[in-house]
Amino acid sequence: MPGLTIGDSVPNLQVQTNQGNFKLHDFIGDNWTIIFSHPGDFTPVCTTELGKMAAYVPEFDKREVKLLGLSCDDVKSHNEWIKDIEAYTPGCKVSYPIIADPNREIIKQLNMVDPDEKDSSGKQLLSRALHIVGPDHQVQVKLSFLYPASTGRNMDEVVRALDSLQKAMKHKVATPANWKQGDPVVISPSMSSDQAKETFPQGFETVDLPSKKEYLRFTNV
Ligand code: BEZ
Repeated sequence: MPGLTIGDSVPNLQVQTNQGNFKLHDFIGDNWTIIFSHPGDFTPVCTTELGKMAAYVPEFDKREVKLLGLSCDDVKSHNEWIKDIEAYTPGCKVSYPIIADPNREIIKQLNMVDPDEKDSSGKQLLSRALHIVGPDHQVQVKLSFLYPASTGRNMDEVVRALDSLQKAMKHKVATPANWKQGDPVVISPSMSSDQAKETFPQGFETVDLPSKKEYLRFTNV
């Protein structure tokens, strides 16, 4: 399967954005970074998504995460479109850069092409892809979303997934279904009970299951 996915390193592409040109690795550095794509400028769902992403900037700042948008249209179009986005979502400021990719080179390498969507001239369109890149100097994709053009993303879920990644990286735990910040987390099955006692002196609770296998263990970190 071609294209960027979990565990891969982001290619160090030279990109053109409405805030200048740079190489992706220079932008990412050793920061958590979200790279997210949109089918096109001046389209309805995208206008709501970019506005919502801008409204969530304080949440991303709190988590020390950089944002980088991508839509195939050119920089001039991005700058015009930003006026619409900010008017539609009052109070928001599109402070993050948006990559332009009129030749559709970047989107192929970042695995952001929607195979089923074409624009009016028959050119390939972007999917709503989103890669969360880790801060570990490996510019490695830690999580990817891939939505079709018809489905706008939920930014609460983006923040929740980011919280899970950050929690898992810091404490070597995993987060269960529907987890949110403050909820108990689960201890990895690869950790023995003795190791768990040492790692989590605050204690943990093992769920009594019909199998009597002690693999579902919750703790608070
Ligand atoms: C939209 O952003 O609304 C959109 C863009 C391309 C295809 C379908 C919807």
